[in-house]
Amino acid sequence: MATPTTPQLTITLLGATGRTGREVLSGLLKRDIHHLKIYVRSKQKLINLFPQLLSDTRVEICEGEVTNQETMQACLSGAKIIINTIGGYSFFPDGSLQRAAESIVMALQGLRNNARTDGRKWEKPRMLLLSSSSRNERFAAARPKLVHWLIETAFQNGYNDLKLAHKAVLVDPSLVSVLFVQPGVLIEEEATGSYISTEEVKLACSYEDLGAAFVDLALERGYDELREVGVSSELGNRAARYAPIMLRKIAAGFFAAYVPGALHITNFLEGVQRLIW
Ligand SMILES: NC(=O)c1ccc[n+]([C@@H]2O[C@H](COP(=O)([O-])OP(=O)(O)OC[C@H]3O[C@@H](n4cnc5c(N)ncnc54)[C@H](OP(=O)(O)O)[C@@H]3O)[C@@H](O)[C@H]2O)c1
Repeated sequence: MATPTTPQLTITLLGATGRTGREVLSGLLKRDIHHLKIYVRSKQKLINLFPQLLSDTRVEICEGEVTNQETMQACLSGAKIIINTIGGYSFFPDGSLQRAAESIVMALQGLRNNARTDGRKWEKPRMLLLSSSSRNERFAAARPKLVHWLIETAFQNGYNDLKLAHKAVLVDPSLVSVLFVQPGVLIEEEATGSYISTEEVKLACSYEDLGAAFVDLALERGYDELREVGVSSELGNRAARYAPIMLRKIAAGFFAAYVPGALHITNFLEGVQRLIW
């Protein structure tokens, strides 16, 4: 969709140190952006990933816990676009997505109250939230029932958190306009081009394609009326390539959801892996 862009925007990005957020940040930095505020838990981690940010005058970094209202308000102040790519601990019970969503909403409410007190009109920002194709009724209905059940059951913990995050950001439509960005399985592989559609989603999306789609969805005003959108890689329907990856993830999801002590075993194995690498 070739539509007008608005370069004079202030954009706030959350989750920039994650896999999706890094791709979004790389994409934004290549574009003619005006002012980018980045919310991170660790500024050092961000700078290690993107040392060039230290000398990029367009960029402002806000550091703190996601629940810190003072920092959150400062980081959201003036933002016309909010890109939230915070990811949770998907396989295990976790409230990261919900907490982040609630904190953003609370900060926006505070900013709106301040605007009203100062006699300024509230211009509600647009928020792009990293969601999942499973949370899109049309996409979910297009799946074979058994596959849908396997996916919903395996990833129940992540989806529970995501559902609560959806609920939190939709609490007041006059406060913020939300676009749920809904990819299928996320894959570490080369980009094949992003495919953005409200009608269908393919099996898989590479992080690079997802990041590029986020940038387009944020900067092109033609997407502003959408409420949810599927994002895929152009070649995201190569079933033979993605089926083994999806099966491994589903198996990991069942392990996490139903095997007692799975979290401890996972933490232990990750610790060993870190030592080896
Ligand atoms: N995996 C899939 O196949 C799939 C498919 C569809 C949708 N999704 C969605 O994508 C998400 C994962 O995205 P991803 O792979 O890009 O994630 P990721 O690489 O794990 O990155 C997570 C990001 O969120 C931040 N974060 C995590 N917990 C936080 C907290 N409590 N407070 C503040 N920041 C926090 C991390 O910051 P730090 O660097 O400080 O830790 C990091 O920047 C999932 O949660 C799911 O909603 C996944």
